[in-house]
Amino acid sequence: MTDRTKCYLHGLGTWIVSDAASARAALADPRLSSQVLQTSFHLPAAAREEYADLLNILGRWFVMRDGTEHRSARSRVGSLFAPARLRKIHGALEDVIRKSVEEYVLGGGGDAVRGVANVVSARTIALLVGLPNTDVSELHRWARAIADFVAASYRANLAKAAQEAMREIGEALAGSVTARDVWQQAADNDEERLATCSMLLFGGLETTSSLIGMSIWYALQNGLLPRLVKLDEAEDVVERTLSFRPPLGHVARAAATDLEVDGCLIPAGDPVLVSLTGVDPMTVTSPPHLAPAHVVTDRRIGHLAFGFGAHYCIGAALTRLEASLTLRQLALSCPEAKLGPFSWSKNRTYRGLSELTLRVSPPIVRETA
Ligand code: HEM
Repeated sequence: MTDRTKCYLHGLGTWIVSDAASARAALADPRLSSQVLQTSFHLPAAAREEYADLLNILGRWFVMRDGTEHRSARSRVGSLFAPARLRKIHGALEDVIRKSVEEYVLGGGGDAVRGVANVVSARTIALLVGLPNTDVSELHRWARAIADFVAASYRANLAKAAQEAMREIGEALAGSVTARDVWQQAADNDEERLATCSMLLFGGLETTSSLIGMSIWYALQNGLLPRLVKLDEAEDVVERTLSFRPPLGHVARAAATDLEVDGCLIPAGDPVLVSLTGVDPMTVTSPPHLAPAHVVTDRRIGHLAFGFGAHYCIGAALTRLEASLTLRQLALSCPEAKLGPFSWSKNRTYRGLSELTLRVSPPIVRETA
């Protein structure tokens, strides 16, 4: 008989893997399946029928597949994130980020979550999938609708909004000349294409926006911004932020067979939450008010912010680059920026700042002769 009090959360009906070493082992264990659609989505039967299109596409996201199905779907888009592709889009990415930060500074600063982090993350993902003219707020609306449903998947009204968002994503991608290459590359049929492309849009938005927001906060809290004109120093701040506060708190798995984790016997079919923070994901802690000046960022040990094993984040290099270039651009455009009021989001899965006010000096207007 297993000791359920140790790692079973009765309130949520899920097992929990908390400490970093056990989490790493769990993420590398093929007996913990990523096919969590059945265990996590609890729509009533009638709503399941009504939102079958949404559930069908989400079930094809390769983050929720195992084994060969996962590997072959992932390999179709691997080249979009390869070093060669990142080098190819590096100049365009710098332009997107320069434009976004300059617009923010010219607009007088204000909330950098809305004005910088959301804008950079949306414009970058739009660049990656080939939707450069799509409105930033539209992209975030789609991602939010899907995220809201994934977080509370028993609510039919959220399923309705997510299904509508998914339909709009499909229309935007399939109907765009500029997205055609990525759309064709992603899979051999339209359902799989929509699944992979919508997952890339979703995966690249909220998490990256959180990382950018928190990295700016970290830099300003520690008075580091002027130094971040050097890209390697900006990269270091991004890495410290990832270690200190991973944007995703945990990931979901389901036991594919009876197995033992941390001395607990988990029955086949049970849901498991694997923490990416090294602590119990359900622990209620006050959000940080100060950013620690020293964070151990030993790359040999590494943090779990991007997961581990077969499902390691495909966008990790892109997002690190985006966040570092954004810090560098802020250091160039407004090195004197001061931190104003900020607040943390209450979401335990997607962690970040909901607001981050920066006070920036008015831009210098040079008279032309
Ligand atoms: C700070 C930003 C990001 C964080 C913290 C993050 C975090 C993660 C984590 C923890 C996983 C593992 C999921 C699991 O094991 O179940 C993951 C997977 C994934 N991420 Fe990210 N991610 C970020 C940015 C991005 C970006 C920019 C993209 C795409 C443009 C992306 C696309 C994906 C995809 C497609 C997967 C699934 C990989 C697979 O199943 O093989 N992510 N991410």
